[in-house]
Amino acid sequence: MKIKNDARRRFLRQSAAGMVMTALPEWLWAYGGKIGSAVTPGFNADVELDFYAQQAYVPILSGGLTAVQKFYATRLKGPQQTLQQLPGNYLGPVLNFQKGQKVRVFFTNKLSEPTIIHWHGLHVPQASDGHPMYTIAAGERFIYEFEVLNRAGTSFYHSHAHGLTAEQVYRGLAGLIVVTDGEENRLELPRGEYDLPLVIQDRRFDVKNQLQYLQTMPERMLGFLGDTILVNGKPNAEFAVKSRAYRFRAVNGSNSRIYKLAWDDGTPLIAIGSDAGLLPNPVTKPYIMLSPGERVDLWLDFSGRPLGSKLVLYSLAFSGVMPAMYDNMVNRSGGGMGMMMHHGLSHGSKFPIATFKITEMVTDSPKLPGKLVDFPHLTLSDVDNAEQPLPIALAMQPMRPTLNGQTFAMDRVMDFEKVALGSCKKIRIFHQHNGMGMMGGRGMGGMGGRMEMAHPIHLHGQQFQILGRKTAAVHAGYETVKDGFIDSGWKDTVLVMPGEELEIIKPFQDYKGLYLYHCHNLEHENLGMMRQFLIS
Ligand code: C2O
Ligand code: CU
Ligand code: CU
Repeated sequence: MKIKNDARRRFLRQSAAGMVMTALPEWLWAYGGKIGSAVTPGFNADVELDFYAQQAYVPILSGGLTAVQKFYATRLKGPQQTLQQLPGNYLGPVLNFQKGQKVRVFFTNKLSEPTIIHWHGLHVPQASDGHPMYTIAAGERFIYEFEVLNRAGTSFYHSHAHGLTAEQVYRGLAGLIVVTDGEENRLELPRGEYDLPLVIQDRRFDVKNQLQYLQTMPERMLGFLGDTILVNGKPNAEFAVKSRAYRFRAVNGSNSRIYKLAWDDGTPLIAIGSDAGLLPNPVTKPYIMLSPGERVDLWLDFSGRPLGSKLVLYSLAFSGVMPAMYDNMVNRSGGGMGMMMHHGLSHGSKFPIATFKITEMVTDSPKLPGKLVDFPHLTLSDVDNAEQPLPIALAMQPMRPTLNGQTFAMDRVMDFEKVALGSCKKIRIFHQHNGMGMMGGRGMGGMGGRMEMAHPIHLHGQQFQILGRKTAAVHAGYETVKDGFIDSGWKDTVLVMPGEELEIIKPFQDYKGLYLYHCHNLEHENLGMMRQFLIS
């Protein structure tokens, strides 16, 4: 096999020894020797950023500093507000992009291990999507170039080095992306200090304030759960607010924990945006389920609340996301077994996330618009495979969560994972039971059935729409989460509950190449619960 360039060499280094690239066509390598290694002449960037990842020490708990991995950035070119540093924090800077901007990022890996950045939610060319084949070694540099095609919304960048993603995100390699556009600017939405990020993560610390990761067998397989909830990198988060409307951009940046967001006084939640886009209309819910990788933009008007009063954002109790055996143990032992597995905060227990205190009375406030943005509803008449949906079969094999019966292979796609550029597909996401064909029906349980759990499924590239959920075979506990899904907007990550089946519609426009789909329970992703579409 003739080695053509650096990217290819990197790629081969990471492929299993002796594997032949049967499935991947030559044009994937046709960019010449410069994928990520040189600037493209003629790509005139509006925004240029110098990015690096480095070990750092930050204050999180009182007492000693915590060792983290952190993204840093400086602005070489572009509007001053492009970078917004969250002070004393492990999160990377908030990236404020405008639709239509051309962005170039020079990323240098100053860690002592490989890494790469993925811009979760942005629809970018494959060479800039942070596919793990582009992982760079310590000391190396990768140049990203992309145009911001996204509509206004909230996205989330993070490490995507295969096998390292979960631990690197856990140790801090993540940050928020805010995209604005003309359509959003015409709406009177809260801006500036009234538009706040809520990056929600759970962590576990040792007595010296150092991050602890994966210690028990169940959490290696089911996902890491921490016992300390952080918002924007801080525990016991408290925000001073004025008596007016706010926009909160909530991101679940946790490795595996799912949140059931609700206000403590029963105030309904109002969502104005979901993953990377405003909703057509505001949606009111008693609570909102937010799984890893998902975002929701919340509207909350504090008008009429007394000075000094507090409102607390909670995660309420729920069940049914873990394998039945886990829920049983937690219940039978009054939480004891869950604690044994997860050091104190079992999956689905109730806890506060952040407190909002009204510290200033004001009289002016924007009013919640009735209509937000134009929304082209995709229907079955838009897809070319209504009768033969692409499958995404979820399964928990012993110590090996799989998609379509497989784990991730950098250099392989299955036939049905090849998708024509410009096409629009119906995709069916369902739980596969052990021993059954992946295109097929329901098994009789077995290990796959007993281990069935909730998976937040994320598809790279263009956002999709949810056609429907089939709930005939859902498990116990579903009733505790069912009113919390925001399915009316553009999505890139969706929670699939045990027994549930989803149909989605996804366009595959603009870019050829390999686009990943995977479970965003990052421990599952690391174990290989990831595959890819080849768009050509
Ligand atoms: Cu947020 Cu492929 O990831
Ligand atoms: Cu992504
Ligand atoms: Cu999963």
